[in-house]
Amino acid sequence: MSLVANWSYPTAIKFGAGRIRELPDACAAAGISRPLLVTDKGLAALPITQSTLDIMEAAGLGRAMFAQVDPNPNEQNLAAGVAAYNAGGHDGVIAFGGGSGLDLGKMVAFMAGQTRPLWDFEDIGDWWTRADAEAIAPIVAVPTTAGTGSEVGRASVITDSVTHVKKIIFHPKVLPSVVICDPELTQGMPRFITAGTGLDAFAHCVEAYSSPHYHPMSQGIALEGMRLVKEYLPRAYADGTDLEARGHMMSAAAMGATGFQKGLGAIHALSHPIGAVYGTHHGTTNAVCMPAVLAFNAPAIAERFDLVAAYLGISGGFHGFCDFVQGFNDSFDIPHKLSEMGVGTDRLDELTAMALNDPSCGGNPITLTTENTRQLFVDII
Ligand SMILES: NC(=O)c1ccc[n+]([C@@H]2O[C@H](COP(=O)([O-])OP(=O)(O)OC[C@H]3O[C@@H](n4cnc5c(N)ncnc54)[C@H](O)[C@@H]3O)[C@@H](O)[C@H]2O)c1
Ligand SMILES: [Fe+2]
Repeated sequence: MSLVANWSYPTAIKFGAGRIRELPDACAAAGISRPLLVTDKGLAALPITQSTLDIMEAAGLGRAMFAQVDPNPNEQNLAAGVAAYNAGGHDGVIAFGGGSGLDLGKMVAFMAGQTRPLWDFEDIGDWWTRADAEAIAPIVAVPTTAGTGSEVGRASVITDSVTHVKKIIFHPKVLPSVVICDPELTQGMPRFITAGTGLDAFAHCVEAYSSPHYHPMSQGIALEGMRLVKEYLPRAYADGTDLEARGHMMSAAAMGATGFQKGLGAIHALSHPIGAVYGTHHGTTNAVCMPAVLAFNAPAIAERFDLVAAYLGISGGFHGFCDFVQGFNDSFDIPHKLSEMGVGTDRLDELTAMALNDPSCGGNPITLTTENTRQLFVDII
């Protein structure tokens, strides 16, 4: 089976090895002639980024890049990116990278023409309607990790550098117009990032599947997403050049983010404050949280996960699935506790309050309270 396809769901996706060469066509389709490529500091000097700039330049699109983007990007990165965008007279953004580069690039396109401050557009109620939709610049997204699925998402996660809170900024027009999913771009990911990002995709599928909301389309996508991660993350981790495994992981990432339109849950509600306060890697943090959250949610999800276990070929139903998750984490050297990643127990009350304020809470099948959330933190730190 050839892993090359053009999809139009949930947006236009050009999927296949080597398809980064179609970036000029993607820009033309999105109506961009003077793009600003936005990526993070780590990617700026890598050959995949330089050769992408070469492709842009050869097509007469210039080679403008903004790369002052931190992991867990914040509003200061965004202000600098918007300034670079406006100073350069750009007419669209190529959001290039893992979740950090993608999220920040999407926000540069969103904020370049707005007059209200960023936090006015947090994903609360209908705050997104405050934005001037006509002023949002077109976005072409190019993922270089396989995890967040931000390339097919209508939101970005931006850390408030003052309060250390991760906030979700949502607008339907933040969904990139064209996505290039080229698994060759992910071949050089370090193993730690391969594992962490792949387990983020897994967490998106698990949480979407666990959420009590009615969304059968997402339910089906989340189920197949879990299967792809189970089959192909071990191969991508063992051999980063395994293009078939990298390709299926790239699909699983897009499926996780499509699936979580149904909701996220306690894994993300716990992991967002940890990432914002301690700067830990998002997907790795999720992976550490997952076993405790599955046990916590057991009364609400056990029956539903019997089906997952059967589909994934895991014996023992829900409990078999939980054993599988712990063994899966162990096979990628994921720590058992957050304390191994530098997280302390001195800020439990603060972390608990932040978790309860996180929008992901709403999708957890068991209601989170101060008591049970604090206990979850105690269990995982
Ligand atoms: N928008 C969403 O829906 C959504 C969903 C989940 C997570 N997120 C956010 O995404 C961010 C995490 O994204 P991530 O896990 O992809 O990590 P990342 O973007 O922070 O990248 C991690 C590291 O890997 C490097 N890297 C990326 N691609 C590489 C490649 N191909 N080769 C070599 N190195 C490479 C980067 O330079 C960086 O140092 C967090 O801020 C998280 O909150 C967003
Ligand atoms: Fe995530």
